[in-house]
Amino acid sequence: ANQLGSKEERTLALVKPDAVSKLGDILETLHAANLIVTKAKMTKLTWSQAVDFYVEHQSKPFFSNLVQFMTSGPVVAMELMGDGSIAAWRRLLGPTDPAVAGREARDSVRARFGTDGVQNAGHGSDSLAAAAREVEFFFPSTAGPGPSNTAQYTEC
Ligand code: PPS
Repeated sequence: ANQLGSKEERTLALVKPDAVSKLGDILETLHAANLIVTKAKMTKLTWSQAVDFYVEHQSKPFFSNLVQFMTSGPVVAMELMGDGSIAAWRRLLGPTDPAVAGREARDSVRARFGTDGVQNAGHGSDSLAAAAREVEFFFPSTAGPGPSNTAQYTEC
């Protein structure tokens, strides 16, 4: 279930290599914003996985820098669930450039933990379609036998 505006709206949050050491602070931020982590995984992307993930940017001049950075160390991928989670996580991230974030959104994740236009701490899906694709990218539903990678949450 990933209906826009529902309490079950899901999104993909990616903690980039430069901010993995700040994971505790980022989890506190998510908790304070009522976003629930329903799946999580630390992984080191291969070059070809990073190219696939960012394929929509393949013609941009910064593409190889982006892929280089995203494969430079582990990332932490999380599926988040919560009311308006797609927009909520992007709001928590702040503007793409940490220098802008520092001026316009000083409490944001990128203002607090980002460094520059390359090392900007995190990524968030920007639409329902992107969220569906990006969650599936890190947490394929055809995972085969073994423990489920989906946590179940029930209303209290
Ligand atoms: S665009 O052209 O407006 O679509 O690009 P933008 O949304 O600003 O950025 C898309 C993602 O590319 C990253 N980015 C960069 N990486 C490395 N080097 C440079 N110069 C650079 N510029 C932008 C940016 O952080 C975005 O990554 P995600 O993970 O989607 O936030």
